[in-house]
Order: sequence, then structure tokens, then C-alpha cells
Amino acid sequence: MPKAPRTMTLTGLKFLGMLAAQKKAGVYLEIGPLFGSSTNVIHKNRVGTAPIHTIDTFEPAPWVKKRLGLDLSRQLFDKFTSGIDNMVVHEGFAPDVVQESWSDDIGFYFDDATHGDPGWSDNFDFFSRFFNRETIICGDDFASGWPDIVRNVYARADEWGVKLYVMGRVWALARQGDERIVEAVNKACPKLKDVTLCTTHEDGERCHPAACWSWGLHQNKPLLRFHIEESAALSGQVVTFHDGSIKAATEIGRAPVELAGVNQIYFSFGKKIRVQLCLADASGKTRNTKAYRSEQLIDIPEGSCITALRLSDS
Ligand SMILES: C[S@@+](CC[C@H](N)C(=O)[O-])C[C@H]1O[C@@H](n2cnc3c(N)ncnc32)[C@H](O)[C@@H]1O
Repeated sequence: MPKAPRTMTLTGLKFLGMLAAQKKAGVYLEIGPLFGSSTNVIHKNRVGTAPIHTIDTFEPAPWVKKRLGLDLSRQLFDKFTSGIDNMVVHEGFAPDVVQESWSDDIGFYFDDATHGDPGWSDNFDFFSRFFNRETIICGDDFASGWPDIVRNVYARADEWGVKLYVMGRVWALARQGDERIVEAVNKACPKLKDVTLCTTHEDGERCHPAACWSWGLHQNKPLLRFHIEESAALSGQVVTFHDGSIKAATEIGRAPVELAGVNQIYFSFGKKIRVQLCLADASGKTRNTKAYRSEQLIDIPEGSCITALRLSDS
């Protein structure tokens, strides 16, 4: 069977698969499979025989044809997913198409359908009634171009008092048992297993696996300082500059890296590890930088600040 054309990043797909492997009780639900790239990844990592429910209108859209060169159709979706057993396809607009009939406990929720409100929240509000305490709740496109997703996901994480994990553009939450999400992050990026990044904003410090984005991604909130906790898995230095002069060179694991007044920074790692930053400009607009190699100088333009960072193995 040929691989379905995809819109998700490879990192996001890897994370999605590792998340799918962490499902406990309940069915899989995917909204917005398009040609079935994400559906195949969920299927390959499926736990046991729980069915995969997937919902799409399968209506052709100009952006799909422009980006992937093909018109969406149910027929093409069926071709690209012909190797998947125990799948229930709901053809129509979510949540309306299942509003009267849905009753299953959802153990895994992946939303890559409507990227703005009211559609995103209509789905979340309807399907979250069927979540259990351990449901892995995730979706794609936690990105500056989709502000409703960013705002809604932070709001849910705050409301439930849980950590938010983002790899690629895939976001994930669990009300209970989020060590399963950490396990998924570690499996998606084994070189950074056990490397923890702690970041401090005005309202306090938070720690995350370094392979996922630190808190503050696409928030207009300056990162004040960070430290990478001492780990046998990573050594090196972080070097900060102000107007061309070295401000500090900090050994990883030794002390926090202070960011006040820093307008250039580089990371020097003993391994092939890259670093990516999220910057907010003077108007508050956020953007992710490319992933920089070790010792590659990163400019922080005048008026911009770092809001979040992540390490990656590629
Ligand atoms: C960004 S694409 C999904 C990409 C896909 N996950 C992949 O791996 O390539 C969004 C899909 O969601 C579908 N969609 C958007 N809103 C929807 C809704 N409310 N109900 C059902 N399908 C929807 C579109 O038809 C499209 O196929």
C-alpha cells in the first residue's frame, strides 16, 4: 500500500505514534484524517484491538489540491488506509455527524480537523464528555498561525492543572498518568531521554523533557532564565552575548542561563543535538526559529525575546 500524502511534520508523526502506543481503556478517535497519513501512524502503534474511529467530510478543498497535488475523496482515503482493520469511518462534519449516536469511552483523542473556533471547541466540548481520567488528548498544529488552538489548549491545561507537551506541532495532555506522555517523548527522541529543561518566566519555574517545547511556546511572555539539568546524556556549554561581547559561558547542568540583555546565544553540545527557539517580536507575534546546530550563533533581533526552547536530535 502506498504511503498517504501528509501535512504533519515527521517529528509530530513520530510523537503521535508513540502517544497512540500509550492508550489505556477506550477507543481511538481521530478527527481530520485527510488521506490517512495520521490514521496509519495511529494504527501501527495501536494497543490491542480497540477500534479506531475516524471522522472526515472527505470534501475536496482548494488548499489540499494546492499543497498535496490531489483532491481529497473518500475513495482515496479508503485506498491509503486499506491495510487498517477494525476501523469505523464516519463521513461527515464533526461533531454533528455522530452527535446523536456517539457513546464510546474515548481513550485516545487526536484532533487535526477544524483549526479555529467555534469548530475546534465544538469538537472538544462534545467529545471530552466521553474522556476518562487517563485519556491521551492530543492534536496537531500548535502553531502561531492557529491562535485558537494555542489559546484553547493552554486554557484546558490550566483548567485541569496539568502539563502541556508539544513536539513538532503535536500537543498532548492527560489528566492522569502523564508519565505516559513523557515516555512517548523519550521514545520519539531517545538521544535526549532523561534530559530535563527547566524554564523560568515571571510566574515561576516549570520543568519538561528537553525534547519537547518548554512552556511559553507561542505565548508573548519573555523567558527570564533556563537550565538544562545535569545528565549523563548531555554535556556542553551555553554561551550568551550582548552586543558582540560574551556575557556568560555556562556549563550545562551547573547554573541557570540568564537571558536579560542577551541578543545572541549559542549552544555547544558534545553530541549532534540541535536547539530551536520560539521568539516573540515587539508586536507580540511569535515565530519558531529553525533548529540550530551546535555552535551556530542565534540572533535575537532587537525588540524580540525568547519565549520557549526545545532540543532535538535532528
Ligand atoms: C489538516 S487536514 C488533516 C491532516 C491529516 N491528519 C494528515 O495526517 O495528513 C484536516 C482534515 O480535517 C477535515 N475536517 C476539517 N474540519 C472537519 C470537521 N469539523 N469534521 C470532519 N472533518 C473535518 C478536512 O476535510 C481535512 O481532511
